[in-house]
Amino acid sequence: MNNFQFRNPTNIIFGKGQISKIADEIPKDAKVLMLYGGGSIKKNGIYEQVTAALKGISFEEFGGIPANPEYEVLLEALAVIKEKNIDFLLAVGGGSVIDGVKFLSSAALYEGDEPWDILSKGIRTEKGMPFGTVLTLPATGSEMNSGAVVTRAETKEKLVMGGPGLFPVFSILDPSVVASVPQRQIANGLADSFTHVLEQYMTYPAGGLLQDRFSEGILQTLIEVAPAVMKDPADYEAAASFMWSCTLALNGLIQKGVPTDWAIHMMGHELTALYGIDHARTLAILTDSHYTYNLETKKEKLAQYAERVWGVTEGTTEEKAKAGIQKTKEFFESLGIKTNLSDYTDESEGTAQKVANRLKERGMTKLGEHGTITPTDVEKIVAMAY
Ligand code: NZQ
Ligand code: ZN
Repeated sequence: MNNFQFRNPTNIIFGKGQISKIADEIPKDAKVLMLYGGGSIKKNGIYEQVTAALKGISFEEFGGIPANPEYEVLLEALAVIKEKNIDFLLAVGGGSVIDGVKFLSSAALYEGDEPWDILSKGIRTEKGMPFGTVLTLPATGSEMNSGAVVTRAETKEKLVMGGPGLFPVFSILDPSVVASVPQRQIANGLADSFTHVLEQYMTYPAGGLLQDRFSEGILQTLIEVAPAVMKDPADYEAAASFMWSCTLALNGLIQKGVPTDWAIHMMGHELTALYGIDHARTLAILTDSHYTYNLETKKEKLAQYAERVWGVTEGTTEEKAKAGIQKTKEFFESLGIKTNLSDYTDESEGTAQKVANRLKERGMTKLGEHGTITPTDVEKIVAMAY
């Protein structure tokens, strides 16, 4: 096991009716900006719950942060923060709203002229404006981590940012909110969180015995609750396990002391930036080809996964590894997610080369847990995904 440090300061407030506790978590004299997405919270009662809970606290609102939070829209919110002397942010939404608020938390205290530099130059955020979240969609884990992904439509870029200053102060996780989530987004949440675990697990044996068991436990839980939550998102018990699994999948715990991959995400972000494919679906498209292409270096963990998570007992290590890949593909498809790139874009677009070139331009030429996946490999992996 590798050396590590682990600190996660986010206060998680989990359970039914907990949105009413927001005011206890925000300083009484704070000037709050509440931010949300395209309006789902106004249809499912979450808006009323949050605004009622903010009684006695001075707050402004900013709605309209789109899925894959858009830089231009965030700049409008940044102007409101400055104009109204806001000093506390409250994100009410899924990963997109929370990530948008993380960008704003950083940009509000950033001293440079061009906030895009935070993303394009990879500037870490050591200190941000404090913010809390009310999670409305389990998927990304953004509610308990310090990373964010921001999109710029003008240049078709989707870039990551982060730093220790970007952990939410608190996050309210009420599984009742899942009841209104459309099935497509439930499927996305299951596939995204599943892949988060895989990115931190599907590498090589590294002595992380407990980390492996944590990861396998999250994967098994997601597989177990998927049919129930897909059938009825109002099933509170299923939604509760789904929500907590998504948070634990990417709050930093399972990756401590072990190697991580993240190549699927890096390639996937390019597919979203180029074609607008939902984040989770880009991952489902690439998983099979990434693991098949890298079978030699990943087969031991793939076989362990096949055995422990899917109960595959027959065959050689390589056969089990391949069975694990097949089971993963079938799991995504069982959620109604198509796993071939050709289901989303036309091959004649030269997608594989475009993705490889974009990563190369950004200097991302050594992906994967061994740092050996070059743009040439990326091109082959994406081409295999058709
Ligand atoms: O915008 P509204 O109207 O609220 O609708 C949203 C949106 O259209 C809707 N929704 C959310 N909660 C709902 C609801 N509809 C009904 N009832 C509710 N309770 O769902 C749609 C999708 O929301 P979005 O926030 O975009 O989804 P998700 O949580 O999957 O976030 C995706 C974004 O997070 C990034 C992705 O790249 C993508 O930009 N990620 C962030 C990560 C992180 N910060 O750690 C890690 C991930 O790997 C990922 O990259
Ligand atoms: Zn993801």
